[in-house]
Amino acid sequence: MTVLPYKDKDTAKKQQVADMFDSISPKYDFLNHFLSLGIDIRWRKKAIKQLQEIKPKNILDIATGTGDFAIESLSLNPEQVVGVDISEGMLSVGREKLKKRKLDDRITLKSGDSENLPFDDNMFDAIIVAFGVRNFENLEKGLTEMFRVLRPGGKVVVLEFSKPKSFPFKQLYNFYFKNILPTVGKLISKDKAAYTYLPESVKSFPDGKMFTDILDRVGFNKTQCKPLTLGISSIYTGIK
Ligand SMILES: C[S@@+](CC[C@H](N)C(=O)[O-])C[C@H]1O[C@@H](n2cnc3c(N)ncnc32)[C@H](O)[C@@H]1O
Repeated sequence: MTVLPYKDKDTAKKQQVADMFDSISPKYDFLNHFLSLGIDIRWRKKAIKQLQEIKPKNILDIATGTGDFAIESLSLNPEQVVGVDISEGMLSVGREKLKKRKLDDRITLKSGDSENLPFDDNMFDAIIVAFGVRNFENLEKGLTEMFRVLRPGGKVVVLEFSKPKSFPFKQLYNFYFKNILPTVGKLISKDKAAYTYLPESVKSFPDGKMFTDILDRVGFNKTQCKPLTLGISSIYTGIK
């Protein structure tokens, strides 16, 4: 079943996701760090470390949003980082951030759909996605496109929410995620749906082995899943 942000609208998931991120973009960074108590920053660092051994020169950050994962990838000293996203609102907050931090000559943010990437085959040494794949309208199509633009021997790193399994953490976390987070998110972002969509989309996302199975199916090798913080998030990797 497809989980939509705005259930009363009949537009496609992709358009709804773009509209939702446009709407919350001014508050996105603040809410991300606030609602995760800053853990998201550590997760991005850990995910980027998965690329240290291949020393990528060209990196593509898919669903880049306001560019935080792309910025973190600069720790690898690449020659080029490109970020793509379908939300102009998120990209414009990201561009402002890059300008302020004088990083706009190192990272290029472009409008682009993960399911139809505007790049040639085998162009990138590494593909990275943080908290993006869960929002794709067609997950397998998005992953197939990533595989296409990655060079043979290149590595994909996906960071995404997953579902904690151990008692009593699972119960405590579910209470926070389903009750507290949507209330605070709605209050601050003023978007009624966005922070209800978040737990719903995490619940329906094929996490853990189900996700590495899909990565295998689209062609990736040596796929792995590394759970973070008792399974709230996971890092998935694969090689082309
Ligand atoms: C939760 S944000 C993550 C942003 C950023 N990667 C981060 O770590 O903060 C998810 C992003 O995915 C983007 N997105 C969703 N579907 C997409 C698609 N089909 N193609 C490109 N971007 C997409 C949204 O617009 C949004 O900016």
